Amino acid sequence: MSRPIIVALDVSNARALRDLVAKLPPTLCRVKIGKELFTALGPEAVEICHGAGHEVFLDLKFHDIPNTCAMAVRAAARLGVWMTNVHCAGGQAMLEAAKDVLAGESHSPLLIGVTVLTSMDAAALQTVGVSRPLEDQVLALAGLAQSAGLDGVVCSAQEARALRETCGAAFCLVTPGIRPAWAASDDQSRIVTPRDAMQLGADYLVIGRPVTRADEPADALARIIDELAHPPG
Ligand code: C5P
Repeated sequence: MSRPIIVALDVSNARALRDLVAKLPPTLCRVKIGKELFTALGPEAVEICHGAGHEVFLDLKFHDIPNTCAMAVRAAARLGVWMTNVHCAGGQAMLEAAKDVLAGESHSPLLIGVTVLTSMDAAALQTVGVSRPLEDQVLALAGLAQSAGLDGVVCSAQEARALRETCGAAFCLVTPGIRPAWAASDDQSRIVTPRDAMQLGADYLVIGRPVTRADEPADALARIIDELAHPPG
C-alpha cells in the first residue's frame, strides 16, 4: 500500500521536532510542516525532516499577488519539499503563476489548492461575501485549481466524494479532520475515520495528535495503517 498518512508536526522548536520525527518511520508516513513550525524555525524545520528521511508537505497556504505567490512557491520547491499549497481564493492568475513557475525548476513539488477552510461554515462564508452554498464554493474553487493545472486540493473528507466525481481520479484530495475511532476528537468537530475518508475518495490523510501525542507514535501509525488494510469486524 502507498503511504497515505501525512503526520502534522505541530511543534515549535528544533528539539521537539527532532524528537518527534525520530519516532516516525518514513516508510509509514510523510510529514507536514505548518505555519507555526516554519515561522519559528524556517528552512531548518525542513532540513531536520529531510535529515530523518521524511518527505515534507510544506503547508504555508500562500495567498498573495501572482508574482509574490509564485516566488514563494519557487522557494518552497528549492527547499526540496514533496508538496506545498496555495489558497484557491487567490484567483486564476495567482494559481497559474504558482503552477507555471515550477516548470523552470529541477524539482517540482505537488501543488495543492486550499478550497474553503474546514473552520469556515456557511454563516462565516456569508460574512466574507460568499452567499452560495459551501459545497458549491468548494467545487468552484477546486475547478479553478484544476483548470490552472494544480495537482489537487485540501478539503474536508465530507466534500471528497463530490470532488472525486467532479475532478476525476487523478486529482489529488488531501483531507484533515481525521480521527481513528479509538482517538480523542480534540478540537476537531466534523471528524471522519481514516477508513471512511479513504472510501470517500481521499488520497492523503492529515493526522496530527492521534499520532504525535500517542505514547508510541510509531505504534499509533501502524495501528491506523492496519485498520486501513483490514477493516474491523
Ligand atoms: O492534531 P490534528 O489531527 O487535529 O491536526 C490536524 C492538522 O491539520 C493541524 O496541523 C491543522 O492545522 C491542520 N488542518 C486542519 N483542518 C484544516 C486544515 C488544516 O485540522 N481544515
